[in-house]
Amino acid sequence: MAILKIARMGHPVLATPAKAVEDPKSPEIRRLIKDMVETMMDANGAGLAAPQVHIPLRVVVFQAPGERAGLPREEDGGLNEEERFDHTAPQTVLINPEIEVLGPEIEGGWEGCLSVPGLRGWVERPAHIRYRGVGLDGETIERVARGFHARVVQHECDHLEGRLYTSRMSDLSRLIFESEIRHFHSNEGQAAS
Ligand code: NI
Repeated sequence: MAILKIARMGHPVLATPAKAVEDPKSPEIRRLIKDMVETMMDANGAGLAAPQVHIPLRVVVFQAPGERAGLPREEDGGLNEEERFDHTAPQTVLINPEIEVLGPEIEGGWEGCLSVPGLRGWVERPAHIRYRGVGLDGETIERVARGFHARVVQHECDHLEGRLYTSRMSDLSRLIFESEIRHFHSNEGQAAS
């Protein structure tokens, strides 16, 4: 296992669509996934896509809560429980993922990215999606997601299309240093991905 170097905004690998994985169960892919998980944990991230570690293949890993339907709580600044990153949440590996938007509802949220260190941006995305892909053991994974879960999957899959969250922003006045997020919201704990 190894901690991999993370590509930063401006590196061409982050702006290039990634290629499909032909053999999800190959030893090379299993090693890549192990290294990506270790790198994500070391960087304290909520997710990581293979292009972020200079590998232009369609592989993402992320941590997201399951199907809990948390209601907004005042002490969380009115954020859904699902909108807050949970370091104990289950890890998911997705090879060759696909996303289907399930409804017209759009939700805004603060995002960070390990390839854009130190910054946060307000991004509006579809709130309700279904995603599918191949898991670590070659099994098909298909899930419906909302909230933070839906956001992190869309953020990671954007990396596979060569897109960073900044290209999804409609208001660049809401691209800020993470140390200043307290002036906007109370979710400083949101992890980058
Ligand atoms: Ni990212």
